Amino acid sequence: MSAGSAPGQSPVAPRDSDSFLEQPPQLSISPALFQKFQKLIYAETGIWLGNSKTALLCGRLFRRLRELEIASLKEYFERVSQPEQEEERARMIDAITTNETRFFREPRQFEFLGETVFPRWRSEAESGVRPKRLRIWSAGCSSGEEPYTLAMLAAAHLPQEDGWDIRLLATDISNRVLEKAGKGIYSIARSSELPEPMLHRFMLRGTGEREGEMKVKNEIQRMVEFRRSNLNQEINVPEAPFDAIFCRNVLIYFDPASKQRVVTNLVRQLIPNGLLFVGHAENLTSMTNELSSLESTIYCKPGNNRNEMR
Ligand SMILES: C[S@@+](CC[C@H](N)C(=O)[O-])C[C@H]1O[C@@H](n2cnc3c(N)ncnc32)[C@H](O)[C@@H]1O
Repeated sequence: MSAGSAPGQSPVAPRDSDSFLEQPPQLSISPALFQKFQKLIYAETGIWLGNSKTALLCGRLFRRLRELEIASLKEYFERVSQPEQEEERARMIDAITTNETRFFREPRQFEFLGETVFPRWRSEAESGVRPKRLRIWSAGCSSGEEPYTLAMLAAAHLPQEDGWDIRLLATDISNRVLEKAGKGIYSIARSSELPEPMLHRFMLRGTGEREGEMKVKNEIQRMVEFRRSNLNQEINVPEAPFDAIFCRNVLIYFDPASKQRVVTNLVRQLIPNGLLFVGHAENLTSMTNELSSLESTIYCKPGNNRNEMR
C-alpha cells in the first residue's frame, strides 16, 4: 500500500473523480417490447436485430433516454413510434447503427481498382470507347473514409488534368456519421491506414489548435457529395447510373428479404459492365443471377462483351 492511502483501501480503487464513469443503471425490456422495437427498426431500415440483441438495444438507447429524461424503454417506444416523430426515429437509428470503417479497408478491392479497372477504363477512354466520366456510389459510407479512399484512388489514376470528370455519391442513413464525413477531419492516429503516397498527396496535417488531426484536401472533398439516404427505401437514385457501387458491410445487418431487395435495386443503378463491391462477409452468388463474380466480393453486371472486365 502506498503511504497516502487509507487503511483497507487499495490505491487503484475507483474514486469519485472525472476519470471514472458511473455504471449505467440497467434498462430492462420485456420480450414483447423488444419485438416492437425489432419491427419498428426493421420497417425503418431493413436492419433485423436478432433476439440475442436485447443488451445491444438497451446499451445503445441508454444515452438517448437520459438526454430526454425518459425512465423506461416503454415510454420511449410510445414516443418514437408516433408517426410525426420522424426526427426522433432518425436519432434512434443514429444510436443503433454500427459505423465501423477505415481508409483503404479491404485493400484487395482497391488494388483491383488501381491495377485492373482504372487502367482498363483509361485505355477505353483513350480509344474513344467510353467517355472520360466516372460515377461511383458509396452506399452506407459511414464517416467518409470509404468514399474519400475511392476519390483519392480515382484522382491518382484518372487525373482531372487529362479531362476526367469524376463524381462520387456517398450516402448513409445516420446523420451523425454524415456530419463527420462532410468535415473530412480525422485523428492523425489514423494516418497509418493510408499508403504513404496517398497520405502525403491528399491529406493535410493539423497545426495549432488542430494538432493531432488530419484533413482531406479540398480537391478530394469537392469530388464527393454526401447525403442522407435509406437503402431500404431509396428506389431511384437521381445520380444513377453508376460505373461502380460500393455497398460494403451494410447488408450483413439486413434480413434475407431486405438484402435481396436492396441488391436488386443496386444492380439496376449500375451501367452495363458496372461493378458492385460488397464486404468480406457478404456473398451474393446465391442471391442474383444478374451478376457475374469477378473475384470474391467483386461482381459485374453483364453488358456488351467488348467492355467486359475479365
Ligand atoms: C459498418 S458501416 C460500413 C462502412 C463502410 N461501407 C465500410 O465498409 O467501411 C455500415 C454503415 O451502413 C449504414 N446503414 C445501415 N443501414 C442503412 C440503410 N438502411 N441505409 C443506408 N445506410 C445504412 C450505417 O449507418 C453504417 O454507417
